[in-house]
Amino acid sequence: MKFFGVKNLRVSTKEGKEILSGVDFEINKSETVVLIGPNGAGKSTVAGAIMGDGRFITSGSVKFLGEEILSLPVSERAKKGIFMSFQNPVEVPGITTTEMIRSVLEDKRGGFVLLDEVREGISENAKKLGTNIWFSERELNVGFSGGEKKKNEILQMLALSPKLVILDEIDSGLDVDASTRISKILRDYQKESGCSYLIITHNMRVLRHLEPTRAILMKEGSVYAVGDQKMLKTVEKNGFKAFFEQISEKGVK
Ligand SMILES: Nc1ncnc2c1ncn2[C@@H]1O[C@H](COP(=O)(O)OP(=O)(O)O)[C@@H](O)[C@H]1O
Ligand SMILES: [Mg+2]
Repeated sequence: MKFFGVKNLRVSTKEGKEILSGVDFEINKSETVVLIGPNGAGKSTVAGAIMGDGRFITSGSVKFLGEEILSLPVSERAKKGIFMSFQNPVEVPGITTTEMIRSVLEDKRGGFVLLDEVREGISENAKKLGTNIWFSERELNVGFSGGEKKKNEILQMLALSPKLVILDEIDSGLDVDASTRISKILRDYQKESGCSYLIITHNMRVLRHLEPTRAILMKEGSVYAVGDQKMLKTVEKNGFKAFFEQISEKGVK
């Protein structure tokens, strides 16, 4: 059975402007796939469609562990083991991180989860992240700095033990030390869980301790090229524009 696959995914705005014009790619178990592309290429739209923010999906299929998930609500996708960290995590007044994690865990297990168990897990993971455990007792992301929100996303990820993790610019707003630390945490979690990553980033630092198996380059709503670490390095060094020009000169595309 295929682990995960997106096929001919098309998304439009409600005004009818096409944002994704037929995106295809697959992710295997335990793979680390990096999704790159210039601003506005459609990366966050792909991530959103996978997690359930697909209000204007006009066609396509997203299969996880053999099952079509496009028609499922976000909570069902989470239950199946997909976790996504948003580029801009939302502030949720009235609920703490601890309560949020507990409610998702209860939903997942279909039964009561002790608060002590949730707090214990959070405490362990907060240590790894180097954050204060009391952050989790504050309203979810309310008044958090950009970097604190991102760390809070990782805290939630670790608590929910996902099989497929989508990280949309997890490193934006993180200081250098925090990026490196999170890269190590991601590596360790993958080693112990065998999870797969879809990592959207403009910054190679967060990949430092990971071993990307594939890089997907998007341009203007479609997959432009699929490559490996070499492609990531070339783009990092020369930028997207130079890469596109070089490819079109060679007539490869
Ligand atoms: N709700 C929307 N209405 C209109 N345009 C949108 C909407 N959401 C995204 N877009 C446009 O779709 C394109 C892709 O956006 P996005 O997926 O966020 O790109 P990326 O994450 O690669 O920077 C952008 O041009 C963006 O402005
Ligand atoms: Mg984006």
